[in-house]
Amino acid sequence: MSAEQAAALVQPGMTVAMSGFTGAGYPKAVPGALAAHMQKAHDAGQDYKINVLTGASTAPELDGVLARADGMNLRLPYMSDPDLRRRINSGDMEYMDIHLSHVAQHAWFGFYGKIDLAIVEVVGITSDGQLIPSSSVGNNKTWLEMADKIIIEVNEDQSAAMEGMHDIYYGTALPPHRKPIQLTNANQRIGQPYLDVDISKVIAVVETKGQDRLSPFAPVDETSEKIADHLLGFLDHEIRAGRLNEKLLPIQSGVGNIANAVLAGLSRGGYRGLQSYTEVIQDGMLELIKDGTLEFASATSFSLSEEGIAEFNRNVEFYRERILLRPQEISNHPEIIRRLGCIALNGMIEADIYGNVNSTNVVGSHVMNGIGGSGDFARNGYLSVFMSPSTAKGGKISGIVPMASHVDHTEHDTMILITEQGLADLRGKSPKQRAQIVIDNCAHPDFRPMLQDYVDRAQRDSYAKHTPHLLGEALSWHQRYVETGDMRPAT
Ligand code: COA
Repeated sequence: MSAEQAAALVQPGMTVAMSGFTGAGYPKAVPGALAAHMQKAHDAGQDYKINVLTGASTAPELDGVLARADGMNLRLPYMSDPDLRRRINSGDMEYMDIHLSHVAQHAWFGFYGKIDLAIVEVVGITSDGQLIPSSSVGNNKTWLEMADKIIIEVNEDQSAAMEGMHDIYYGTALPPHRKPIQLTNANQRIGQPYLDVDISKVIAVVETKGQDRLSPFAPVDETSEKIADHLLGFLDHEIRAGRLNEKLLPIQSGVGNIANAVLAGLSRGGYRGLQSYTEVIQDGMLELIKDGTLEFASATSFSLSEEGIAEFNRNVEFYRERILLRPQEISNHPEIIRRLGCIALNGMIEADIYGNVNSTNVVGSHVMNGIGGSGDFARNGYLSVFMSPSTAKGGKISGIVPMASHVDHTEHDTMILITEQGLADLRGKSPKQRAQIVIDNCAHPDFRPMLQDYVDRAQRDSYAKHTPHLLGEALSWHQRYVETGDMRPAT
């Protein structure tokens, strides 16, 4: 049926689980038609909102249209759409930011209530009624299993050559019936290439066309190049120290410009035959596969720019042999990340002098995107690395602060901090030792004396001396930014 007819099946108040992960594989047509219905209802004074669950971020055709139509009561988990971000931060709707590996199990535990409807994009339907997954897998397996009803979008613009690139694992269970997941190498298949679907639940099939959201990246600049160089120097150091060998360990690379630039930098390191066990395949990862730095990448989704999509489509047979897409409960599974010993490379908004990292909330309250999979990988990886420029907003904000204004990753999860100024290796260090290394190695020179002054006074005047803080002052930098638009005191 048409997208309009399918959208008419979505009732106000429903919980609707949709495909989509980092701007890939989301339904392209039904959400827009639904937003138009919502807008009409709102214009007529009727309430028409739904709860929306996805894999991770989607695109203007899903999050953007529904946010602009004021059509969501609740959205979870990760997002990155500017209109949606605005609505969430203005307090108009609820947003739940959840570890991406937790979403499927929390749905099964019943924490999100009944799922009324799933809307899932696929590349095609096989003759025996299985679904060929699209450019992301995300939570689709769970949504198809749990939802009462299903709408399928078949997108003819998604490359048919993706058939066979997916590995859908059906062995998960709820405690106390869980069994070990027998995945011991990033390139291993443990599932099937297709998604199962109960055809009796399918209430609509909609044919669509349309590319995924494009994810252009900022060109690699001097700052991100310096961050990449510090990381490469550190990896060499670890090899010399005998803690890593030349093949390193499976790389996880987060989202964002810095992570993408760092990936591109890895090809300068002269490594060959590395593996990646990660969440998202960005442009930088395609380049690494192409030049032989990476021999295999396991993820749950693509997140490519226009050039990245063109490159993938040009050489799809080559990439098919070297990429697998899995459900996000497997790509981000703590058991597997711990077993493989991933090197987790993620961006951050700020870190404090003790190593607590804020990945999500600017000035403690304005959510940027969400935690994504950074917590899944940072907590369970062999190495957890967080990277950021040392300042933001033209130097007015320090990325290294006395106390993080929001904590996503605690001092216990953070091993390495990198800014363009340098690298702080926090492993095996006490809080006071960490504070000094972070200030000396990572802080921007404009903020270093302020941080040193803070920590000196805290070590003298703090209530106790294990993690010295002056509580009344610890967040004053953020408050100054709120009041004056600059963390630096007026001179
Ligand atoms: N205070 C205020 N704003 C800050 C900031 C700070 N301390 N640090 C960064 N920002 C802003 C930047 O100014 C920029 O805003 P703009 O888009 O309005 O210019 C934005 O955050 C992105 O920062 P950028 O320096 O370009 O870094 P990035 O693209 O690498 O993104 C995160 C950084 C933290 C937003 C991103 O890594 C993220 O969303 N992380 C959480 C999810 C995650 O780690 N997933 C990994 C598993 S896939």
